[in-house]
Amino acid sequence: MLTLKAEFKKANSQRGKKFQKDKRFKVLDITMKRNQYRQDALIEILHKAQEIFGYLETEILLYIARNLKLPLSRVYGVASFYHLFSLKPKGDHVCVVCLGTACYVKGANAIIEALGKEINLHPGETTANNQVSLITTRCIGACGIGPAAVFDDKVSGKQTPELVVKNVKDWLQEY
Ligand code: FES
Repeated sequence: MLTLKAEFKKANSQRGKKFQKDKRFKVLDITMKRNQYRQDALIEILHKAQEIFGYLETEILLYIARNLKLPLSRVYGVASFYHLFSLKPKGDHVCVVCLGTACYVKGANAIIEALGKEINLHPGETTANNQVSLITTRCIGACGIGPAAVFDDKVSGKQTPELVVKNVKDWLQEY
C-alpha cells in the first residue's frame, strides 16, 4: 500500500498533459482565482472541486495544495475530515454524468433515467460487487459538447442514453 507521500509523488508525476487536456481543471482554476487563491477558502474550493469531479482523488488534492501553497497533508487532512467530501468512489470504474444547465437542456436527465431503468444504477450508487459507481456533477467545462460524461478519466461529449448505458454495460461485462 502506498503512503500518502508516495501517492502524491505518483500523482505528481502523472499530471501535466492530463491537466492541460482536462477542462475540469480550468473550471477549478477559475474557482481558485475567484477566491484569490486564499488558503482560508480551502473548504469552498474543495466543495467546488467535488462538484466538478464528483470526488476528490489524490491528484486533485495535489493540484489544489500547489495552487493555494498549502502543505499537502493539510489539504488531505481537511478533505478526509469532513464527511461531505468523498475521496474515492467505491466502484472500480466511475461514470460521471454532468447535470449542469447546458447538459441538462440537451437531455442529460434522460441518461440518468436510462441508467436507472436498464442497469438499476442511480446517482450516488455503486453496482453490486463494486464494479461501477455513478456520480453526477454540475458543469465540467465541456458545455459545447454536452451532454457530457466522464468514463474513469476520459471526458466524452455528445452522449446519449444508449452510449452511456453501453459503456457501463461493457464495464460490467469485464467481470
Ligand atoms: S453543463 Fe455540462 S459541461 Fe457544462
